[in-house]
Amino acid sequence: MNRISKMRMAVNLVALVLVFSGCQMAGYALSSFLFSIAGSPAAWAVHLISAVVGFGIFAGVAALVSFHVTHSPRWKEHNRRQGGFLAETVDVLNRIARGDFDVSVPTHERDPFPELAESINKMARELGTMETMRQDFISNVSHEIQSPLTSIGGFAALLKSDALTPEQRAHYIEVIESESRRLSKLSDNLLRLSALEADGTSITKREYRLDKQLEHITIMLEPHWMEKDIVVEAELQKVSYLGDEELLSQVWVNLLHNAIKFTPEKGSITIALTLEEKAAVCRISDTGIGISPEDQAHIFERFYKADKSRDRSLGGSGLGLSLVKKIVELHGGTVSVKSEPEKGSVFTVILPID
Ligand SMILES: Nc1ncnc2c1ncn2[C@@H]1O[C@H](COP(=O)(O)OP(=O)(O)OP(=O)(O)O)[C@@H](O)[C@H]1O
Ligand SMILES: [Mg+2]
Repeated sequence: MNRISKMRMAVNLVALVLVFSGCQMAGYALSSFLFSIAGSPAAWAVHLISAVVGFGIFAGVAALVSFHVTHSPRWKEHNRRQGGFLAETVDVLNRIARGDFDVSVPTHERDPFPELAESINKMARELGTMETMRQDFISNVSHEIQSPLTSIGGFAALLKSDALTPEQRAHYIEVIESESRRLSKLSDNLLRLSALEADGTSITKREYRLDKQLEHITIMLEPHWMEKDIVVEAELQKVSYLGDEELLSQVWVNLLHNAIKFTPEKGSITIALTLEEKAAVCRISDTGIGISPEDQAHIFERFYKADKSRDRSLGGSGLGLSLVKKIVELHGGTVSVKSEPEKGSVFTVILPID
């Protein structure tokens, strides 16, 4: 109950007490007048009769007031509003139940339940946003599945021809293999992301050496960066960290894969791990194609790719960084990017240490 309603209630209560006292006084006055004419009965009867007359007057006044109020145009308008409000609210709720979220209960200043109308409107807006996200998600997944399947189907059909050279055949088979890998990675990433979102708290933490993990992953990815003649430098401080080793390994693999993928031949990548006050900080810098400020705002969203045409040739479904963000956040940390197009990018992961 807000302050105005409380004040209104207090005023009504005082008015009621005043009217009741007035009626009782009028009761006494009237009965005294009648007793002066007809003679007084016993004292107890005088009090009883005066009180009954007082009550009678009060009942009469109450009946008159309520008749006046219920027949006043203001009361009729209030009832009409209340009825209209309820009908509108029920209609809006029925439309929401049918999946139509583009609705709102009109909120007039004098409606009986403005807070209720506001809450229903807020709920409809939020359900609408979730529905849009759901539809975007389905269309993104379908798109990501459709394009490798089209390639696989097309190249498999070409393979049926007898007039192919061994090189052509090997190339087609290679495309089919790489598109199948892409599909399998997409399903892995989707499963992982939905598992983390559904049951984020079930991460298994144990103390391990972050620097050793980064070193190991850098070596594991050597064939990829060597293939592009990229120079990789690692400056790793010794850091013991309590976290989910397997999940964090996915973070570094995704960030390093991106750095390698988006850095042209003969570029360089630096991995720096430092122990700062109450946090382990890992910076992965590259001299790659960079990311525009507009794209930087979206790259951690699912399926977002800064340059769709370029990414088609580079592969990837735009899920890598959303997984990175999710995993880092599950560890209470943050991931951010600083980048300049054509110059390079720096991804910084900060993992708090208790
Ligand atoms: N180091 C980087 N340099 C330049 N652009 C980058 C870099 N890292 C990420 N990006 C941009 O951010 C987008 C999203 O990255 P993300 O890792 O989520 O997806 P992806 O690499 O395209 O696909 P996936 O990781 O699912 O294989 C990339 O498509 C790319 O445009
Ligand atoms: Mg990626």
